[in-house]
Amino acid sequence: MAMIDIQALTKCFGPKTAPKTAVDGFSLAVEPGEVFGLLGPNGAGKSTLIKMLTTLLPASGGRATIAGFDLGRQRVDVQRRIGYVPQALSVDGTLTGYENLLILAKLYGVPRRQRLERIQAALTYVGLDSVARKTMWELILQLRRDYGTTVFLTTHFMEEEADVLCDRIAML
Ligand SMILES: Nc1ncnc2c1ncn2[C@@H]1O[C@H](COP(=O)(O)OP(=O)(O)OP(=O)(O)O)[C@@H](O)[C@H]1O
Ligand SMILES: [Mg+2]
Repeated sequence: MAMIDIQALTKCFGPKTAPKTAVDGFSLAVEPGEVFGLLGPNGAGKSTLIKMLTTLLPASGGRATIAGFDLGRQRVDVQRRIGYVPQALSVDGTLTGYENLLILAKLYGVPRRQRLERIQAALTYVGLDSVARKTMWELILQLRRDYGTTVFLTTHFMEEEADVLCDRIAML
C-alpha cells in the first residue's frame, strides 16, 4: 500500500464563476520510507498541495489517502500520523526547544505523565547543538533510517537537496 496516495487532487481558488486552478488533477503514489521531492517554479502549486496533504486546506476535487486514511473523511487519523516542518521551524522564535516540544506534545495529545520523558528523548535524539553537529537533512535521513519515516518535501534547490536526498522527484 502506498503511504501517500494522491488521485487527481485539485484546488481552485476564487469565485465559482471565475475559478483560478492552483493544483490541477495531481496524482502520485509515495511508498513507505521513501524520500520524495516535489520541485516546481514559484506559483506552481507546491504549497497548496502540501496544505491539502496536511489537512490545512480542503480539496476542490479528487482524493488522497495517507497511511490508508482519507484526507477528507478521516482528517484526525491523518493528522495523528504526520508531522509538518514549515520553512520557519519554531512555533515561536522566542521559545526554547523544550517549550516548542511541550506545545507539540500537548497538540498531539501525549499524556501529561509521559511528556517530560518523551521531550527529553526527542532532545537527546537530535543532540543539544543540532545545528552545528548535523544538518537538517542528515536528521531527516536519520529519521527514515531509525523509524522508517516517509518524507515528502518541496525545495527549489535541485542539486544541493533534491538530487542528493530524494529517492524520486516530480516536477510540478
Ligand atoms: N489563498 C489563495 N487564494 C487565491 N490564490 C491562491 C491562494 N493560495 C495560492 N494561490 C495561487 O495558487 C497558485 C499556486 O500557489 P502556491 O503558493 O501553491 O505555489 P508554490 O509552488 O508554493 O510557489 P512558491 O515556490 O513561490 O512557494 C499561485 O498562482 C497562487 O497565487
Ligand atoms: Mg510555496
